[in-house]
Amino acid sequence: MSPHVRHWGLIPAAGVGRRFGATVPKQYLALAGRPVIDHAVAAFVEHPGVAGCVVVLGREDGWWADVSAYAGHPDVLRAPGGAERCHSVRNGLDALAQRAADDDWVLVHDAARPCLRRGDLDRLLEALHDEPVGALLAVPIADTVKRAVDGQVSETIPRSALWRAYTPQAFRLGLLRRALDHAESQDLVVTDDASAVELLGMRPALVECSADNIKITRPEDLPLAAFFLEQQQETPC
Ligand code: CTP
Ligand code: MG
Repeated sequence: MSPHVRHWGLIPAAGVGRRFGATVPKQYLALAGRPVIDHAVAAFVEHPGVAGCVVVLGREDGWWADVSAYAGHPDVLRAPGGAERCHSVRNGLDALAQRAADDDWVLVHDAARPCLRRGDLDRLLEALHDEPVGALLAVPIADTVKRAVDGQVSETIPRSALWRAYTPQAFRLGLLRRALDHAESQDLVVTDDASAVELLGMRPALVECSADNIKITRPEDLPLAAFFLEQQQETPC
């Protein structure tokens, strides 16, 4: 790997949190003394191996400037959100291209994932050495999984090969841009970044992470995240 290759965070934060259903998008709710999004941004801005990050914000979004300690931070760029997460990430890549090179690694991480452990991020960065495609944090599935047709089981899917895809997901800027443009040209709305790269026929690496790297989706996830952060204070990394 060239010594000049750098790592950047890209935090999509332009969602409205429909399933959470609060009056404020979930990434701006308070969690352990700061907004949810600041936990996500801190993981990158405070990591010595990360050059900076871009946050992708909703177009009408005044909350970021109001509540985030990172608003105006010199290492944090902003980009405007898009209709779906994949469009927001694509916009973030354009903003990042002001500072980053096509060969630089971009680590895309949901604003709604506040419990990323430093040790897991370190392991993902480590996995990128000599990695030709890219890598994502993931957790092996613990439950038995069924496929359903009309509310009845049609098939039990062997779980040994199944993983939950988490974030960060890391790809070189140029490859991720090409992958997202390709998916869009096929009218496909991908729900994670790896899916776009997979559509190009490539196979990203899975890096197992702690299961507490949850995405806050529904109201019950917020107290769960608070609990995990408390636990992490006691047993870091
Ligand atoms: N996101 C984004 N742009 C969008 C949609 C989502 O940047 N157009 C971001 C969200 O802010 C979040 C991450 O992508 O940090 C994961 O999305 P999700 O959990 O689905 O968040 P929301 O879209 O806000 O929630 P919901 O789907 O319930 O509305
Ligand atoms: Mg969504």
